[in-house]
Amino acid sequence: MTRILTALLLLLAALSGCQGESPQTPATPSVKTDVQKPQTTTTEKTKAKLVVYSGRSAKLVEPLLSLFEAKTGIKVRVRFDKSTQTLANRIASEGQVGEADVFFAQDSGYLGALAKAGHLQALPKAVLDRVPENYRDKDGKWVATSGRARVLVYSPERVKVEDLPSGLEALADPKWTGRIGWAPSNSSYQAHVSGLRALWGEEKTKNWLAKMRAVEPKVYPKNSPQVKAVSSGEIDIGWVNHYYLHRLKAANPSLKAANYSFRDQSDAGNLLMLSGVAVTAHAKNVRSARALAQFLVSDEAQNYFAQTVYEYPTVSGIKTHKNVPPKSGGWAAVEQSALSDVVGTVKLLRQLGLQ
Ligand SMILES: [Fe+2]
Repeated sequence: MTRILTALLLLLAALSGCQGESPQTPATPSVKTDVQKPQTTTTEKTKAKLVVYSGRSAKLVEPLLSLFEAKTGIKVRVRFDKSTQTLANRIASEGQVGEADVFFAQDSGYLGALAKAGHLQALPKAVLDRVPENYRDKDGKWVATSGRARVLVYSPERVKVEDLPSGLEALADPKWTGRIGWAPSNSSYQAHVSGLRALWGEEKTKNWLAKMRAVEPKVYPKNSPQVKAVSSGEIDIGWVNHYYLHRLKAANPSLKAANYSFRDQSDAGNLLMLSGVAVTAHAKNVRSARALAQFLVSDEAQNYFAQTVYEYPTVSGIKTHKNVPPKSGGWAAVEQSALSDVVGTVKLLRQLGLQ
């Protein structure tokens, strides 16, 4: 089974994540944590350590882990890789001899794949109970730590919000010819197309992409240049993740762009991509690993995701950043595992000449 999973994962095209577009170095959060130090003896405490495989960027994760180390006395060593997929492959192939205690994944689809193949262990109820059911594995093998929403970024100077399409399908209207940007080589774009394949089926997705191609979108390498291009007047609409606008605006308040979510909350355009955490099946430092999982769903870490990097918290009652519109349950109903099916998506994009 391990071999099959490894082969499957290896087959997938590199899911690069968006770490090339990391946030500004975040400030250390000041809110109090609700994580307690794990019960350890003195001997254990001095030796306490933890190995984390992180598909989330160092810039984003390091301030959080420093805080965790300071609170618990647990020394953390991290293997970063901008590809969550590479780390998932490593956990699957290393098995028992692997050193990863914790997997912190940019894309929860890979957590699902590892859980299914028996490479993860159940998290304590206290960790799982922090988030609603839709933000955790049904068998308790992983928990979502934050979410990134797919949105349109647009120019409020050149486009009236009421003229924006009510759903993603209508983005292919000829009236937008030459006015749209997108990033077909970017992992978030590909995750979204994978989501469309799951929600709409292959045929409808293919037809929509072909119609989109006909409106001649300008191709960008990733999300942030689209936000800048909207501001500079190069394009009127970009297809991006929500937080780039907020991060770029924090650095440049005069940026002329706004985010738009489709009016129908359950539209396939309103996709939420989850990041999450799990303890590996062969973790050598289980207690510390669980303490980290608990920390990542603590009020303190959740406020960090929301306030410092503008993501959607997964714990109920944690407020989103004041500039990020709160979402009350309205997302496209897609299985997170579908988002990591990159192979078929890249194949489709190639058929259409978009890759
Ligand atoms: Fe990103």
